Amino acid sequence: MHTKNEYIGVFDSGLGGISVLKELVKVMPRERYLYFGDSANAPYGNRTTEQIRALTLSAADMLLSRGCKALVIACNTATAAAITALRCAYPDTVIVGIEPALKVAADNFPQGNIGVMATALTLREEKFHQQLERFPGLQVSAIRAPGLVELVEQGLHNTPQAETLLEPVLSPYRGRLDAVVLGCTHYPFAKKAIGKLLGEKTVLLDGGAGTARETLRRLTNADLLYDGPGEIQMENSSPDPALIARAMALLEEDQ
Ligand code: DGL
Repeated sequence: MHTKNEYIGVFDSGLGGISVLKELVKVMPRERYLYFGDSANAPYGNRTTEQIRALTLSAADMLLSRGCKALVIACNTATAAAITALRCAYPDTVIVGIEPALKVAADNFPQGNIGVMATALTLREEKFHQQLERFPGLQVSAIRAPGLVELVEQGLHNTPQAETLLEPVLSPYRGRLDAVVLGCTHYPFAKKAIGKLLGEKTVLLDGGAGTARETLRRLTNADLLYDGPGEIQMENSSPDPALIARAMALLEEDQ
């Protein structure tokens, strides 16, 4: 049995899930959040499905042992690899996983020319291919951006280095796409560089707000909403104390 004053556990491979935590706090400011970033093992995107599933299950185990009424998997890669296993392992806990926001793209541009930026694992998993089949009107280009997660982890996403890294990846799409779905929770932090390289015509979309609304809906249905005082606890698997300071800075950063 879960209680209202337990945490909402929020998990990502590192600091990216803070882009989702921000949306959660916007819609549920009076909740208690326990954020766990697995930066010691990031990036997940180049790992095998089995490795990511094992890392995600072990993080979920830790979060639940600390007293969580809900888990938000604020990592598209971990959702793709582990959401089914998590739901089997914890059938009595609210579990919400972020996915690339293709539905939002299809609602806005039903016949659109859409880019999906995500990790290698997210783009190759079955889950993503099933999602694509649901929106046959969309012309979808899968875009990988190797190195971008690492830049965000290092706090370098608003530096010229981000543009240098992204220029060869995004310049072929400049002015050609209606929207780009940011299908990795680290990427919204690099929105300025991404938007500049793609050009004004391209709208940037992500699943953060939708994930927060879904969490609110599930907690309301389970009668598990808490009425404050809200709090945010930040934890990380990396022994480097700079990670927590960076995490707090990202929480405050305008996107
Ligand atoms: N933030 C994660 C996502 O949403 C993945 C980053 C990584 O490769 O670790 O996909």
